[in-house]
Amino acid sequence: MSNVVSYSREGEIGLITIANPPVNASSQAVRQGLLDALAQGVADSGAKALVILGDGRTFIAGADIKEFGKTPLDPPLGEVINQIETAPKTTIAAIHGTALGGGLEVALGCRFRVAVRSAKVGLPEVLLGILPGAGGTQRLPRVAGVDNALEMITTGRHVPAPEAFELGILDELSQETDVKAAGLAFANRVIAEGLASKPVRDRDEKLTQARADRSVFAEIRAKLEKSARGLFSPFRCVDAVEAALDAPDFVAGLKRERELFQECMDSPQRAGLIHSFFGEREVAKIPGIPKDLKGRTVAAAGVIGAGTMGGGIAMCFANAGIPVTVVETSQDALDRGLGKIRANYEISARRGRFTDAQVDERMGRITGSLDLADLKGADMIIEAVFESMEVKREVFGKLHAIAKPGAILASNTSYLNVDEIAATTGRPQDVLGMHFFSPANVMKLLEVVRGAQTSDETLRTALDIGKKLGKIGVVSGVCDGFIGNRMLKIYKTQMDYLLEDGALPWEVDAAMTAFGFPMGPYAVGDLAGLDIGYMNRRREDATRDPSERYVAIADTLYDRGRLGQKTGSGWYRYEDGNRKPIPDPEVEAIILAASEEKGITRRPIDADEILTRALCALVNEGARILEEGIAFRPVDIDMVWQFGYGFPRYEGGPMFWADRRGLDRVVADIERFAAKDPNSWSVAPLLKKLAAEGSTFKAWSAAQ
Ligand code: 3HC
Ligand code: NAI
Repeated sequence: MSNVVSYSREGEIGLITIANPPVNASSQAVRQGLLDALAQGVADSGAKALVILGDGRTFIAGADIKEFGKTPLDPPLGEVINQIETAPKTTIAAIHGTALGGGLEVALGCRFRVAVRSAKVGLPEVLLGILPGAGGTQRLPRVAGVDNALEMITTGRHVPAPEAFELGILDELSQETDVKAAGLAFANRVIAEGLASKPVRDRDEKLTQARADRSVFAEIRAKLEKSARGLFSPFRCVDAVEAALDAPDFVAGLKRERELFQECMDSPQRAGLIHSFFGEREVAKIPGIPKDLKGRTVAAAGVIGAGTMGGGIAMCFANAGIPVTVVETSQDALDRGLGKIRANYEISARRGRFTDAQVDERMGRITGSLDLADLKGADMIIEAVFESMEVKREVFGKLHAIAKPGAILASNTSYLNVDEIAATTGRPQDVLGMHFFSPANVMKLLEVVRGAQTSDETLRTALDIGKKLGKIGVVSGVCDGFIGNRMLKIYKTQMDYLLEDGALPWEVDAAMTAFGFPMGPYAVGDLAGLDIGYMNRRREDATRDPSERYVAIADTLYDRGRLGQKTGSGWYRYEDGNRKPIPDPEVEAIILAASEEKGITRRPIDADEILTRALCALVNEGARILEEGIAFRPVDIDMVWQFGYGFPRYEGGPMFWADRRGLDRVVADIERFAAKDPNSWSVAPLLKKLAAEGSTFKAWSAAQ
């Protein structure tokens, strides 16, 4: 008997208990253990029914994702489930926590399913680039109906137990809170009342209904064309469910599911999505910080500045149930800021995301003020005033006298030196950067910028609060622009060079969206407003190396009042009330004139060159960031780009992309670019070294 699955008996009930922390993933040992325990239960003449349940916090949260991409080990999960389903004794899944993926598939192999009310079930395989491969696409439609199964399988949604009961996935919603008690109570009832139920594989009624009207398949495929653009597995999920209707029998349906599952397993998207799944969790692990270190309690927050970012940050706190005081310099600015917050909430309410009462409740957690002294009760204060060192130093200088001892003092600066800001406070150990992304209440990334003197406790508190606000926190060291904006700048500079050399903004944007970014850099520029970049360039004028190639196209746009969407034109033009970017001959003329002025003969630049230059620029700067220790690991860079800049999740991130392409190829590309433009391209030493060794960023990181 394996040590992760045990068999025991209580009265007439045999208990098969899985104990494979943290989430009871169905690893090889669990699969073998289930088979062994099932055999033992079947052979136990005192057991009239068998309950399968999870020890610890959950039922089975799915297949062991760490086994993916390796040689499959026997027994396959599908075989384990077939044995459960055809066992000569009644089997009951007793569910708490989550029954996800292979976990729900195991439960669907049982004759009955009972769950505690707090449980959730789902088939989230699609989020990992695969599909339910142990019968889920064949069994779920048989219990929940084809339309519900399609919705669950293509979204990967975790369905709360009460809803799962309504959908027919669960046979019983237990009043017990303890899962063992729930399982035993239901199993005893099954025995006492002689309850019987057909194996799911033999239930055909819901499939017959669906065969009469198959329009749901066309509808979902059309929907996925929009919502799952560029993705492979959602469409295979639909094919697999359709096979449940078309296959001559259940076994043939399983076979088709298996083939489609294998296609997904072999797709590059699967590897990218699984890298992203683990990456999201990896970035929360901070090397060098004691695991048991506790962050400080943040029961009240303060935000300084109620502009674009301050307003969004205040909403994050209010949404998480933390009262927040927002300080502005004038009543006008405060009214504008608070008005914008309310308007945002009201839009959400109109879309049905909140009730009016919830809007009032959230607004009730936000208090406006014109006096910094009102922040004296805050446990964490986030500054979001203008991007000027002078203004920030003044604000932080005052905060020292106001903030209570131990309060975290954070800046939302995009570029500025956090150490310089910290130096004005007299308590640099409590100071760090908390760089939210716009719109702050929506974007998931939080760059947590650790200053030279930031204490571990301060860092821990910022990461904990980030998690509470629903963010993915990634730690960055101090440098101009931190991880994300520093790389963005290099990438955008290269794209601007391409404009002068022969490309047009819409060609660059098309190349990047074809790769999977939701928007290209020029459409994003128009959304954010071209004045931000303009101000930043003026800030840099004094220190810019005069020999550096400077592209002035964006300055011309600014001079002509083309500030982006807000003025109806920028890199594109916009029609009234519409955010759709339209290519504009005026912009083309500006660009052509810029090339001519510099004596550049424009050349055709194809999408492949645009993409390669963009990604190589990111990777090369990413390598420097790693070498300088600004990011802990390549995966931190990948997550910054995914959650802050829309890098396609299935591509994993720039560093993962580079590993997959081969670092020698990346170096060869950069050397080719550098041959023509040695001033702006030189291979980062770490990249060069790893390529020469035939290594990868991932291997380098593992060896650190
Ligand atoms: N396999 C391996 N490890 C897993 C895992 C899995 N299926 N699910 C979670 N883990 C690991 C995490 O990596 C993490 O490890 P760490 O502590 O070393 O970082 C640990 O378990 C705890 O996970 P979380 O931090 O995510 O814990 P939460 O409590 O926040 O969430 C959860 C728990 C909801 C179960 C979440 O982990 C989750 O969504 N897991 C993935 C579920 C899933 O996708 N299942 C389908 C798998 S594919 C499948 O079943 C194929 C089948 O059809 C054949
Ligand atoms: P904004 O101009 O929209 O808002 C700044 C607000 O701060 C204004 O309302 C202003 O009245 C107020 N303010 C100025 N001095 C103040 C003071 N001494 N006390 C109280 N309030 C004061 O600017 P935005 O865009 O919100 O940027 C704020 C900070 O966030 C900047 O450091 C910026 O670099 C950073 N940031 C901006 C992002 C963006 O996309 N806009 C993204 C991420 C960070």
